[in-house]
Amino acid sequence: MRRIAILGSTGSIGRSTLSVVESYPERFQVTALAAGRNVDAAYQQALRWKPRAICLAAKEDAEALRSRLKSVGQTSIEVLHGSAGSVRVATHPEADFVVSAIVGVAGLEATYEAVRAGKSVGLANKESLVVAGDLLTAEARKQGKPLLPIDSEHNAVHQCLRAGRREEVERIWLTASGGPFMRTPKSQFPAITVEQALNHPTWKMGKRITIDSATLMNKGFEIIEACRLFDLPPSRVQVLVHPESTIHSMVEFVDGSILAQFSVTDMRLPILYALTYPERIPSDLRFPVMNLRHLEFCPPDMEKFPCLRLAYEAAAAGGAKTIALNAADEVAVAAFLDGCIGFDAIPRVIESVISATKTGKLESIREVLGADAEARRAAGEQVERLSRSSSPIPRAASIMSHRE
Ligand SMILES: NC(=O)c1ccc[n+]([C@@H]2O[C@H](COP(=O)([O-])OP(=O)(O)OC[C@H]3O[C@@H](n4cnc5c(N)ncnc54)[C@H](OP(=O)(O)O)[C@@H]3O)[C@@H](O)[C@H]2O)c1
Repeated sequence: MRRIAILGSTGSIGRSTLSVVESYPERFQVTALAAGRNVDAAYQQALRWKPRAICLAAKEDAEALRSRLKSVGQTSIEVLHGSAGSVRVATHPEADFVVSAIVGVAGLEATYEAVRAGKSVGLANKESLVVAGDLLTAEARKQGKPLLPIDSEHNAVHQCLRAGRREEVERIWLTASGGPFMRTPKSQFPAITVEQALNHPTWKMGKRITIDSATLMNKGFEIIEACRLFDLPPSRVQVLVHPESTIHSMVEFVDGSILAQFSVTDMRLPILYALTYPERIPSDLRFPVMNLRHLEFCPPDMEKFPCLRLAYEAAAAGGAKTIALNAADEVAVAAFLDGCIGFDAIPRVIESVISATKTGKLESIREVLGADAEARRAAGEQVERLSRSSSPIPRAASIMSHRE
């Protein structure tokens, strides 16, 4: 029986994890849950899964949850709040596996503490690797525990790498759907609405990663994630646009052989892989191979999607630059979702923050969080400047869809 703690249980990955747990009651048990602000979903999950502990981000939400649970006679669940609470969930003595799926840098501390506590970690929270990959991977090595990627691309790479030794790897090919604006001319980017940007062609995900997929920043983060997880320089991690999202990624070996992993576009599969690694167990997540007709590939357009170039530059510089990349993106995406800046302004905010950030290696999570706060402040100022100077932000559908 694998006893699981889920960080970000009310989100897209968190719910998919619970769905996997539900399908295999004889294998998995929920020990602890951590969420953000969704009190209703946390309440339902507490009743359904009866975890030992549950955490919400804010104290008042935790108090509301505690009294709702008390009113139905449920007093044995420890209700926690804040970052100390999510660390308690991540390091719960009865949990042996932690699924890290809080969105953003908010997930870093609990993820790091889970690794430090010697838990096996299934990692969806890519931001942790982007901002503190060296610290996380070093700690996992020290603990002798795997960091198992749940992100579908890295999960695919992890699977392909089982076919060869690390020194036999030439490069990694990360596939990208291209997002909803692959065929939209750049001249139309300023008119892109929130609604259009949230309409991802192949995956249903949380809002931030969906916007990051539309700007290709998500792929940029994944480049850094791959460098950190698989110990490769950015020059050996390449991106290939593949709109069908059928092939989740590939590994090219030194002899020229290329191995690819493909499967249904359903996050329950990489979650199941991580939860059962190194075993594989039967599932009903079957890919209809006989229906496969057409797979398209093309190189990414770095000029149209500058976030990809910014990510390569930050990956090469490392340290503070990757922290600034993530922090500025989090602030810029939130500002876009709030209607304060346009879609085309997202890379501009990021570029200005990164170029003002000095390179430097961070030696502890505390230093990482300090650099993150500094970059957020700079990004906030940039957003304010842009929102004061820009024309009104489009709200209704205002560009033609260029997808077939
Ligand atoms: N969705 C995917 O298919 C996918 C694929 C690959 C990687 N990922 C990565 O997985 C992570 C989660 O993505 P998602 O799509 O599941 O996001 P999501 O649907 O937005 O869910 C985010 C989760 O984080 C929680 N949360 C937010 N702020 C928090 C805080 N301060 N403290 C504690 N919990 C907090 C949210 O809680 P509330 O809802 O209660 O506020 C929610 O449970 C991201 O890093 C993303 O890049 C996702």
